[in-house]
This record gives sequence, C-alpha cells and structure tokens, in this order.
Amino acid sequence: MANLRYGIVGAGSIGKVHAEAISKVDGAEVVAFADPAMDTRQAAAERFGVPLQYDYVEDMLAAQKLDVVVVAVPNVSHAPVALAALRAGCHVLCEKPPTVNAAQAKEMMDLAADKGVRLQYGLVMRFSAEAETAKAYVDAGRLGTIYHSTVQIWRRRGIPGLGSWFTTKAESGGGALIDIGVHMIDLTHYLMGLPKPIAASAVTHAKFGVDADSYNYLSMWGTPVPGGPFDVDDLACALIRFENGASLVLQAAWAANTSDGMDVRLMGDKGGLELSPGNYVRVLTEDNGFIADIKPQYKAADNFAEQHRHLVAAIGDKSRAIRTDGRQGFVLQSMLDAIYRSAAEGNEVNIEV
Ligand SMILES: NC(=O)c1ccc[n+]([C@@H]2O[C@H](COP(=O)([O-])OP(=O)(O)OC[C@H]3O[C@@H](n4cnc5c(N)ncnc54)[C@H](O)[C@@H]3O)[C@@H](O)[C@H]2O)c1
Repeated sequence: MANLRYGIVGAGSIGKVHAEAISKVDGAEVVAFADPAMDTRQAAAERFGVPLQYDYVEDMLAAQKLDVVVVAVPNVSHAPVALAALRAGCHVLCEKPPTVNAAQAKEMMDLAADKGVRLQYGLVMRFSAEAETAKAYVDAGRLGTIYHSTVQIWRRRGIPGLGSWFTTKAESGGGALIDIGVHMIDLTHYLMGLPKPIAASAVTHAKFGVDADSYNYLSMWGTPVPGGPFDVDDLACALIRFENGASLVLQAAWAANTSDGMDVRLMGDKGGLELSPGNYVRVLTEDNGFIADIKPQYKAADNFAEQHRHLVAAIGDKSRAIRTDGRQGFVLQSMLDAIYRSAAEGNEVNIEV
C-alpha cells in the first residue's frame, strides 16, 4: 500500500519533532510543510528531505491531495488550521492544547465526525511507556476504584518563549496550565478511566514572567521576544470534581521557587499507582500480609513515533478507536476553560460536557 501523505503545518520546534517521528513510522511520509516563516520552513524541509513548501494550510490543500495534516502552530491557530484540513477531507493530528476554548474543540469534533475522518490530539504522554504500563495495571483492576488523584508538574525556571506567542493570552489561551498542565490533567484523567468532569475550583498566579528583565533562567524552550507581553499564568492550582465522586488535584508551574518535578498519583480503594513519564512507575499494594511496592520493568518508548503509529493504524482500520479523539479533546478543553474561569471569578464553576 502507498504511504499516507502527510503535510505539517508549522515548521517550528514541534513541527520538526513530528517530521522526525513520522520518518520512523512505516506507511507514513511527510511531503509538505506549510509555514509563512520562509527560513524556518526551508531549513526544516532541507533537514527532513521534504519536497514541497507552502505559506499556509489553504495553499497546501489547494495544491496537494494529502491524507493527514499535522497541526503544529501556536494554540490560537489550532482550530482554524484543523478545520480547514478536516473540511478538505484530511485526517488530522492536532497538537495540544486542543484549542483555546471548548466551543472550537466541539466544532472540530463535529466536523471530523461529519467528514468521517480521524481527529487525534497530540496528547503524547499517553503513549509513554510509563502510561502504557500504568494503564495495564489499572485495566487489570489492581487499583480497584480510583477515587482520588494528584498531579503536579513543577519547573523552577521554565517559561517558554518569554514575550512570544507562548506568553500572550490572545495567541496561547493561557500559560502554565494550558501549556504543560494540559498534558498532566489529560494523562491523569485517562488513567482514572475518563470520568465525566462536573466542576472545577482553581487559582492561578503570575509572579515570574511579569518582570522579564529580572527573570533569571538557565534555558528556554522557544525564542524569547524582548519587550513582548506576559499576560498569562505561571502557576495554576485546581480541584476537579467528577460525576462518579472522584477528585483530581492539579498543580502546574512554568516557574516557581521549588524543585523541578513531575508526577501523577492515583489512589484506588485496592491499590495506588505513582508514575512520572520518562522516569518511573510503581504500584503501591499489599503482598503476603506486607505493605509492598511493585516496580515493573518495561522498555522505553518513542512516544512521538508511537502516537503516529497509532493514527496510521486507525486510518487503516476504521474499527480501531483513536485514543485521544475529538470527544476527549472537547472534554479536556472544557476542564481547562473551567479552571481559568474559576480562577478569574474566584468561585467553583460547573463543567458541561
Ligand atoms: N506535545 C508537546 O509536548 C509539545 C511541545 C511543544 C509544543 N507543543 C505545541 O505545539 C504547538 C507549536 O509549538 P512550537 O513550540 O513548535 O512553537 P514555535 O513557535 O516553535 O513554532 C510555531 C511555528 O508555526 C508557524 N506558524 C504560525 N502561525 C502559522 C499559521 N497560521 N500557519 C502555518 N504556520 C504558522 C510559525 O512561523 C512557527 O514556525 C503549540 O500548540 C504547542 O503547545 C507541543
């Protein structure tokens, strides 16, 4: 069978990670980049041997019949780019966060269903070896009923692209929560069995990015823009309630005076589980009358390549479900929206999904 023809929209940091990942996947081939930044897209096309280049998704779709479009542009453009690709009948892999509001995520979910094409979100932590291992223990019933979880991601100094689109609410939709908290809420919600969220109560802070001149850091994802805006959160804290009575507590920071770290803790009535993507999984249980931990051994996974293998397999076999599909993107975005709304209003807010 011929390779699926991929176009990547956005040839920046993560667009290149996708090109590299797709090159490892059987049955997939990147044939085009679309990015108005000519130097960026030319360098990416050269590096990955990609033959075609365009400015925007519309130019690419008008010139080429593509099977899959990867959306790797700033958050505010996720929905417009993805909707253009879906309208053209392409399958879509859209980077996280799903969009900048739940109404857009719903539009994408509905259009993908109308068109009969696949929509997958780049919630790549679900494809980590740790997530796969944890899910196997959850699915085997080893935790019993999961009634509570905590998840945290701390960066001591990790604001991306200070002053760029990353820290401009109109382009990013938010800060630490929507950029990195999104991965952690999603992974935890998935491992909890995707219970229906009903309410969120949250607080956000902005302490470091607001004074760019005194921001002391060692490295930065993306490119800073001196004098650019910072009107987003650099720390978010939230409690989410679910219809089944379960709860999730999140803390996510781009910058805080605390140590770097990332972990998910799931508490079930039969057992617990702790994981950190890329680092460890342990199951907290009892054995032979003793309180005991299980430390499973597993092979490392290339989670970016795995997410593309998952999509290629689902395109080839319609009976296969997409693990991070349009509905899940909509529910996730609804939780993010509720957290920001709760923090702004100072109240618990309901989530309708
Ligand atoms: N999955 C992950 O772990 C992960 C990691 C980093 C970034 N991301 C996500 O990937 C997306 C891009 O982030 P990045 O770090 O690559 O940003 P980036 O700024 O490095 O790259 C974005 C690129 O998109 C281009 N662009 C902007 N608007 C465009 C448009 N309308 N059409 C075509 N190209 C356009 C820009 O010229 C730039 O080259 C964001 O949504 C971000 O949240 C995901």
